[in-house]
Amino acid sequence: MLVDGQLFRTVWIPEGDDVLVRIIDQRSLPFRFETADLHTVEEVTVAIRDMWVRGAGCIGAVAGYGMWLAACEAAATASFSTLFKRFAETLRSARPTAVNLSWAVDRQLQVASSVSDAPGKVAAIRAAAQEIADEDVAACRSIGEHGIRLFRDASELNGGSPVNVLTHCNAGWLAFVDHGSATAPIYSAHDAGIPVHVWVDETRPRNQGARLTAWELGQHGVPHTVITDNAGGHLMRTGQVDLVITGTDRTTSTGDVVNKIGTYLKAVAAHDCNIPFYVALPSSTFDWSASDGLTDIPIEERSGNEVSSIEGLCNGVETTVHLLPQGSHAANPAFDVTPARLVTGLITERGICKANEESILGLFPEKKLS
Ligand code: MRU
Repeated sequence: MLVDGQLFRTVWIPEGDDVLVRIIDQRSLPFRFETADLHTVEEVTVAIRDMWVRGAGCIGAVAGYGMWLAACEAAATASFSTLFKRFAETLRSARPTAVNLSWAVDRQLQVASSVSDAPGKVAAIRAAAQEIADEDVAACRSIGEHGIRLFRDASELNGGSPVNVLTHCNAGWLAFVDHGSATAPIYSAHDAGIPVHVWVDETRPRNQGARLTAWELGQHGVPHTVITDNAGGHLMRTGQVDLVITGTDRTTSTGDVVNKIGTYLKAVAAHDCNIPFYVALPSSTFDWSASDGLTDIPIEERSGNEVSSIEGLCNGVETTVHLLPQGSHAANPAFDVTPARLVTGLITERGICKANEESILGLFPEKKLS
């Protein structure tokens, strides 16, 4: 994606021989665009846990590169295998809900076990990290190519006036390596000349919509308006939303969607108003072993401080302010589960399917249990 005219991915290995991984540090957006260098797997774990990087695909790609740093560290000792596995478990535990994290860690463990000598393992794991990132880019590009038809249809239905799409949280290119999941069809439609306008849920408590999605859309020149999380139902009931597209942090093989807290309420409102509710995801975000979103998927509980305070700019200075009365406690479940019955369809790199097992396996037949 372009940032001030320059092409960026969210994570990459800079040219040269240094052992490091460079990321876009999302904590400073939209106020400052900054990158950060991560030199060890411990630093990668902190960057994921403390949300310097976030979003399912981005977390998975950063973890893939983090496993390369882990391999480099382990290869400098006499006990590669023990240390590498310990690093893998530390990394895996950084955040519990987005399945791309453990998917990338497991993939790298497998790569390590397929090579016998330590230098060979390091080289193979580095190559696999690049592959994970490249596959993420390709999958998101395809999601855009498949999803554009929803915009063509909606545009035809409303006689060519802008398609109003509502999105929640940030499932944009910052949440992946490039393109994004929910935003990929939006960028494709905009680039193809279909008029689009995006309602951006601010997404309390961390405001990924207001801070990240709005910034991304602005960089790409896509018309958008930021709304409070509570405004979506009103906009849907008054005919101001044609389509909802969100991302997901983990989706079961039966089509239950785990995504940023507040997604479920949007799906309920969309269902009540007969508005299509789509979820965009690369196949790395399916949890093929989970069949019930409510019981099979851990929901991350984050610190109440994210609710009791808010970050912003005050007279040009980045500031955090406290919001609650003295003594009030805050709870912060970070994700919720939208049952498959409320999801109109899933937009994947292989096409659009219904949110049920039969339709999902129709696109991914190799995942059928024999
Ligand atoms: O807690 P975050 O910011 O990592 O949340 C994840 C998300 O970005 C959203 O839930 C998003 O919609 C799905 S991840 C592509």
